Amino acid sequence: MKKIMGLLLTVVLVMGLFVGCGSKNKETEPTGGKDNNQVSDEGKDSTEDVSTDKPKVGVTIYKFDDNFMTYTRNAMTSAAEGNAELIMNDSQNNQSVQNDQVDVMISKGVDSLVINLVDPGAAPTIADKAKAAGIPVIFINKEYPDGTDKIDYDKSWYVGTQSKESGDIQGKLVAEAWKEHPEWDRNGDGKMQYVMIMGEPGHPDAEARTKYSVEYIKSEGIEVDELEKQTGMWDATKGKELMTTWLGKEGDKIEMVLCNNDGMALGVVEALKADGYFSDDKFMPVVGVDAIPEALDLIQGDIMLGTVLNDPLNQGRVSIEMAINAALDKDVLEGLDFQLDETKAVRIPYQPITKDNLGIAKEAYGME
Ligand code: GAL
Ligand code: CA
Repeated sequence: MKKIMGLLLTVVLVMGLFVGCGSKNKETEPTGGKDNNQVSDEGKDSTEDVSTDKPKVGVTIYKFDDNFMTYTRNAMTSAAEGNAELIMNDSQNNQSVQNDQVDVMISKGVDSLVINLVDPGAAPTIADKAKAAGIPVIFINKEYPDGTDKIDYDKSWYVGTQSKESGDIQGKLVAEAWKEHPEWDRNGDGKMQYVMIMGEPGHPDAEARTKYSVEYIKSEGIEVDELEKQTGMWDATKGKELMTTWLGKEGDKIEMVLCNNDGMALGVVEALKADGYFSDDKFMPVVGVDAIPEALDLIQGDIMLGTVLNDPLNQGRVSIEMAINAALDKDVLEGLDFQLDETKAVRIPYQPITKDNLGIAKEAYGME
């Protein structure tokens, strides 16, 4: 009897497995819906095109709920239109979720991968999976800290920026404005008392922006005092919380706010407004990086001092075109106006953005 029960149980379990598999496959089958890549679709797969003669490109974004990556993601969707079948995944800021998504895409037979890592250090793990499946992988936005050339896979590349450049440009923008505005040295001690809001710890962009912005300011002969420095994880709400706390603690000792991205700068501006800034001549210089449209509006309105353009259209487009080339066994750069550096990376230049050249940033974000 026991034996029969055991057998029955096994049969039921195995059937359950089959049923489970079947419904799972159905769920992740390409849908062809173009609007599926919206932020509201968090966590679900979506596919750009149902035709099978075009290369299938599997994409993961570290999390959909990120301002800048949303623009990059949309640029990818546009670049894929008519050229590739795109499978887009929200890794929900969880590396093991991302690893699973990569396994699923490989089992679905994708021809290449575009990966925005959650943890930059996980690049070799993903590259091993791609290598075992014999498909190319393009990493984007979060660079393997040792360099993509140190990953043991010939078919792996990186598309992003030169992180240091964003720090240098931000520092230059701040130094120039500081020299033009002696009144910003509120306590008249000849030094710049600043607060720093950083992006994710361990993120090459966050580390470089934090370091090189201040180094550049100092290299311009400006003395600085760091009043506060903390991570706001690229996030507006966290930026607002930090700034509110610091305004309570440091009050008008703060003379400059450096943010690793615009998302956090938007939060900072909200906190400052709530404290009476940006009305009745009460001003605080705030800078960010990315040049997202909301920040451009604040620059236009003389609220934010400036930002650094991080070009999402080119980063999105180049990564998809490289993934298509690699999938078709062509030269990875075919048809592209970019070069690979010695670390197998394509680096899209950053640009300083102030009220004088907002048009450049608007164009890069497809606003003009
Ligand atoms: C940076 C960008 C940030 C955030 C981050 C995500 O390049 O400036 O705003 O999107 O990438 O990895
Ligand atoms: Ca001062």
